[in-house]
Amino acid sequence: MKNQINKIKELALKEISKARNLADLEKLRVKYLGRKSELTNVLRGVKDLSKNERKEVGEMANKLRGEIESGIKNQELRIKELEFSGIEEKEKIDVTYPGRKIQKGHLHPLTQVRYEIEEIFKSMGFLTVEGREVEDEFHNFDALNIPKNHPARDLWDTFWLKDGNLLRTHTSPMQVRFMKENKPPFRIIIPGRVFRYEASDATHESNFYHVEGLMVDKKEKITVANLKSTIACFMKNLFGEKTKLRLRPSYFPFVEPGFESDVTCPYCGGKGCRICKGTGWIELGGSGMVNQKVFTSVGFPEDKYEGFAFGFGLDRIAMIKYGVDDVRLFYGGDLRFLEQF
Ligand code: DAH
Repeated sequence: MKNQINKIKELALKEISKARNLADLEKLRVKYLGRKSELTNVLRGVKDLSKNERKEVGEMANKLRGEIESGIKNQELRIKELEFSGIEEKEKIDVTYPGRKIQKGHLHPLTQVRYEIEEIFKSMGFLTVEGREVEDEFHNFDALNIPKNHPARDLWDTFWLKDGNLLRTHTSPMQVRFMKENKPPFRIIIPGRVFRYEASDATHESNFYHVEGLMVDKKEKITVANLKSTIACFMKNLFGEKTKLRLRPSYFPFVEPGFESDVTCPYCGGKGCRICKGTGWIELGGSGMVNQKVFTSVGFPEDKYEGFAFGFGLDRIAMIKYGVDDVRLFYGGDLRFLEQF
């Protein structure tokens, strides 16, 4: 039995000193100290020995047990030490090394212009509201005095959904939704994405952005003078104090009278240049006094209110502001273009 113990000792201490990781060490612990280990077996047999032997073998076995335990502990420390040796080299951090730049984006130029426009109108007391991109025929057309089969509908050819709804052709339908929920007086702008069924070229896209405006109050309170001063104030804020506004008679079913709104070209100041095609003026969108039929369609009493409305292309404003001559650049996602803003 003493021989057996010596053999276990030799083998155990050798194997333990060779263990290179904690998992292997744990296996050895089970092998040499576990309930089914040879040493445990020996210890169990001690009680059957003669008294003298019992003492000697028992002491030997217990001593070995202690030796194996401390051998394992020491080896564990050695393994851990080994693991961490050289870590300073491997994980060295040079705190003076210049940091890696994180690429930071910024708002899209159209969003920048939209926010600027919202700020200008906010300073004039206008509330910004948003409509929905998928509209129904009533709000996009009928309520705005564009009945079915009216030739004016040709101006607003759009994408129709299978359920009979459509992609809004202007943000004007939100006029109607807003007036159904709110009583005058109010002034709002409605920026948002709109759609037209048309092929894209340098100045047209099937998807673009509008800013609609609407101010309504009691009958005598709002006139064309308010319309003109509001739009002029907006244009001056956007393009500079020297900007002049020109209204030309035009037709939009939801206003009466209706105007085309032009501004003096911010590039040549009205002298005529490449941007304004030599005319000195740039057309920005429509405006007019709200047609009483629109008020009727939202349930307002007849002849009680008066208001003005306007609608501008946000893309067009951005093109003029930044001197961009192709609207498609805004939608191309080309960073070489976008990073310039
Ligand atoms: N909704 C018009 C368009 O799609 C723009 C517009 C013109 C809006 C005149 C108006 C307006 O409110 O009075 O082109």
